[in-house]
Amino acid sequence: MQDILFNDFARQWEDTRVEMLAAFERVGASGWYVLGREVVEFERALAVYWGVNRAVGVASGLDAIEIGLRALGCEEGDRVLTTPVSAFATTLAIVKLGAVPVFAPVDRYGLVDLAACDDVLRARPEIRFFVPVHLYGHALDAEQIGELRSRFDLKIVEDCAQSIGASFGGAVCGRAGQVAATSFYPTKNLGAMGDGGAILTGSEELGARCAEYRNYGQSAKYRHESIGYNSRLDELQAALLAVSLKKLPGWIERRRTIAKRYIEGIRNKAVLVPGPPPGSDSSWHLFPVLVQAEKKPAFFRWMRERGITTAEHYPKAIFDQPAMRAVAYENVPGAERARNFCHEQVSLPIHPYLTDEETARVIEAVNGWRAE
Ligand SMILES: Cc1ncc(COP(=O)(O)O)c(C=O)c1O
Repeated sequence: MQDILFNDFARQWEDTRVEMLAAFERVGASGWYVLGREVVEFERALAVYWGVNRAVGVASGLDAIEIGLRALGCEEGDRVLTTPVSAFATTLAIVKLGAVPVFAPVDRYGLVDLAACDDVLRARPEIRFFVPVHLYGHALDAEQIGELRSRFDLKIVEDCAQSIGASFGGAVCGRAGQVAATSFYPTKNLGAMGDGGAILTGSEELGARCAEYRNYGQSAKYRHESIGYNSRLDELQAALLAVSLKKLPGWIERRRTIAKRYIEGIRNKAVLVPGPPPGSDSSWHLFPVLVQAEKKPAFFRWMRERGITTAEHYPKAIFDQPAMRAVAYENVPGAERARNFCHEQVSLPIHPYLTDEETARVIEAVNGWRAE
């Protein structure tokens, strides 16, 4: 029996290779490899898909967050409210600017607790920046984010690295703040064949500022307005991503079908399935479940013995990462509870090329586990 992988890029390649090779051929023949037509066209298509005025292709999701924050005026010493349960990159983007992450509590889905954020922001008027993360493909409540934005005059970069295609009560994620950031890391719902990311914004002015930053701070050839970055999305990646973007709605539908089957099929008292937060039409980048921390190694072993790859997102709260010892950060009261969530969290395989039989095998394996 074939192992069930966490992602199956070989199957994806099989499905997309003809169009991918044509895209490769086109870029190769064009003789133009950085910031050309492919990037412009992909940015345009992505902006239409997302329903925003402007998309700016950059080198990674990390850079998209950092550049987005910087375009909003975030600088050394600024406090940035964010979540301790995310990819390390969310915090890294803040720290790279010399700003100070302020970690908020998370809810039972592992998402930043927006009601708790409201309390923090009331008590701490000096906090002017917020980086909420739409984790696992779940969308946070856009209305609540919008209320925080106006009530506290916040500058917000929404981390949508995992949530392209997700919405909350019909509101597409990433449009409640001034800026959204996404990632095209290969495992993402829209993945490149390498690194990439994008900044999304409704503001032409912010979009232009981000586009300047990504290209050495240039406003025109050899005119440098600011100290920028080399953070450009490659032409080749843009051409490949344009192929995948057409597939994305179907891929997300498949993820939703698999998630539904997991939610309906998993019946094991020792494996808690939080499901999507009420109101979220999730794009299911990951499928998180919770098992008791001390039973987790046995669960991993059980699944591995049945040829099923599982993962953790994330094994440690960000404030517990060794790198954080070297930088300033703050935990607001209750943030430490994120530790318990991380210790219990397990991700089951979910990707568009997972077959019905494999989905059933995962359900059967989970249901057959006894937490002795
Ligand atoms: C929530 C989140 N934020 C940020 C990032 C960073 O993206 P990248 O790996 O493209 O830098 C990732 C992906 O790794 C992510 O999952």
